[in-house]
Amino acid sequence: MGRYDEIHRRSLEDPEGFWGEAAEKIDWETRWDKVLDDSNAPYYRWFTGGVLNTCYNCLDRHADGGRGDQAALIYDSPVTGSQATFTYSELRDKVARFAGVLRAQGVAKGDRVIVYMPMIPEAAIAMLACARIGAVHSVVFGGFAGHELAKRLNDAKPKAMVTASCGVEPGRVVPYKPLFDHAFQEATHTPDVLIVKQREAAGCDLVAGRDVDWDEAMAKAEPADCVPVAATDPLYILYTSGTTGQPKGIVRDNGGHAVALYWTMKGVYGLEPGEVWWTASDVGWVVGHSYIVYAPLLYGCTTIMYEGKPVGTPDAGAFWRVIAEHKPVALFTAPTAFRAIRQQDPEGSHIAKYDMPQFRTLFLAGERCDPDTLLWAQDKLKVPVVDHWWQTETGWAIATNPMGIEAMPIKPGSPTKPAPGWDVRVLDNEGKDLERGQIGAIACKLPLPPGTLPTLWQADERYHQAYLADYPGFYKTGDAGYMDQDGYIFVMARTDDVINVAGHRLSTGAIEEVLAEHPDVAECAVMGIHDELKGQIPVGLVVLAAGVERPRSEVQKECIARVREEIGPVAAFKHVAVVKRLPKTRSGKILRATMRKIADGEPWEPPATIDDPAILDEIKESLREIGLVPSS
Ligand code: COA
Ligand code: AMP
Repeated sequence: MGRYDEIHRRSLEDPEGFWGEAAEKIDWETRWDKVLDDSNAPYYRWFTGGVLNTCYNCLDRHADGGRGDQAALIYDSPVTGSQATFTYSELRDKVARFAGVLRAQGVAKGDRVIVYMPMIPEAAIAMLACARIGAVHSVVFGGFAGHELAKRLNDAKPKAMVTASCGVEPGRVVPYKPLFDHAFQEATHTPDVLIVKQREAAGCDLVAGRDVDWDEAMAKAEPADCVPVAATDPLYILYTSGTTGQPKGIVRDNGGHAVALYWTMKGVYGLEPGEVWWTASDVGWVVGHSYIVYAPLLYGCTTIMYEGKPVGTPDAGAFWRVIAEHKPVALFTAPTAFRAIRQQDPEGSHIAKYDMPQFRTLFLAGERCDPDTLLWAQDKLKVPVVDHWWQTETGWAIATNPMGIEAMPIKPGSPTKPAPGWDVRVLDNEGKDLERGQIGAIACKLPLPPGTLPTLWQADERYHQAYLADYPGFYKTGDAGYMDQDGYIFVMARTDDVINVAGHRLSTGAIEEVLAEHPDVAECAVMGIHDELKGQIPVGLVVLAAGVERPRSEVQKECIARVREEIGPVAAFKHVAVVKRLPKTRSGKILRATMRKIADGEPWEPPATIDDPAILDEIKESLREIGLVPSS
């Protein structure tokens, strides 16, 4: 039996022993009573009775424990031409001060704080400052527009919000004020206080009595100490797209999160404390939470925060420049970033210009990694390329090639095998295990390991319905796929209406809600179709209301503008077809899967349950009109 098999088996047979040992790496104020508390199954909790502070474990213990002068965070921003390095001592001091700013504004343990920020160090400082005082942060991705921010304000009901005057995208400054003003107007709950980091690229007017200037407040703040919290207290809420337009508030606890993430730095990524680590993502996504901020700091690594793109800032050599300059031993990003680099530099000619001998592994996740992209990256970089599979819900990898345990042979298209702690199954509709090789719903046997979602924010019933109800005793991942004869997992598609656009998880339901509000739209459907660069892109199909005589092109343009305005540019919503009617089953279900096949040029058959098969030809014609189906 290999090392992986042995460790994986032990993690399932003796989860308390396995994770109890891992928990010794964390500094606890009070040790736990129980490693795994199953008294309220299927609502399992980890490390009940334990008391700790996540910020202390990320910063203070390193700052005071011999890493004070080591770089904790390197900020590299090609879009603004700036860089900065913060040692562990400096970062701790800044975080303590900002925690003091929050406290002075009345933010206390358990209060929620929305962090709506671009990729600047202040975003990480705000997150860690919340952790320091036991407040619960909820980061909203800067590429989301006001309407999406409003939904999160209403659900999290934050006491404060931390933001910046602008984001900087290549060739474009994005002022945040119009976005949060829109959200505040629409939301039924608004924060008492707004703390704004004014950026050089563009400042913004502050509202007297509500808004606080970050720099001014920091200058006069008293540093705040770490507040001990229960292992089971929430550290953060991160909203993610589900089937409906209402995002799900994924809750992360403090104790299990710290234990699991610390463990992954060696187990999954093969890192040693003190090494430099780079995740090219955004703090708005779970990948950014776990691997830009928390895990590398918990483990005593140096983390790189990159405000730029894989291409265009300034060219397809941007990643190699960062690797040569700051010397990370590993990079973690989404496959789409590599598709973008490959499109612009198919020969990988930029790579040769940079010296990066320390670079040893590339990790990819966030969307399915097509074998072509993986093989290209492997060939050009000459290092192992590790695809691993996880979700906002899980906070860390469900399946991976565990580099710190045993590097297994890579099978392109597979994120390898279940990570320790994960009992992954492929089930049929009745919840029975399928044979190896057969495609089904991927589910994980409960209890899930530490660091995974204990519930949804103030929505236990929704949590149960969304994840636990369909397969009792299992967590439903929402992904479909199969396991091959060697036990390798292949994750092929979502089973719900979630789509993945350039590694960004979006709900077709949320886009449909926006389209349905257009006064000229009677009915609509949104589906995700294949895109060479972004993996998937959304396409809207709209049926115009009776009596609408305006040119279709006007309605189409307005629909596109509305989605950009309400959801954000990151939805990359650029295609709308006007159709006479939508294909439905006799029970009224819209046939999205068949329409997607038509758009993707895959073979399709009219399902037996369809009302009138001729509608599908009409759809094909409408998609052809907007250039999505070849005319032959
Ligand atoms: N704030 C404001 N706008 C943002 C934004 C942010 N934080 N992030 C993205 N946008 C905007 C972009 O400017 C772009 O606007 P445009 O329509 O005016 O061009 C739009 O949203 C789409 O952005 P993006 O998804 O970045 O696509 P792109 O076409 O500009 O670039 C890639 C393509 C592949 C280079 C890019 O998607 C990428 O780097 N992907 C990596 C994905 C990633 O890190 N995912 C995180 C999960 S691991
Ligand atoms: P998110 O919650 O934004 O991280 O998105 C999670 C979803 O992205 C998963 O449910 C999958 O559909 C998809 N995903 C993430 N990583 C992978 C991967 N390595 N292979 C296939 N799909 C992935």
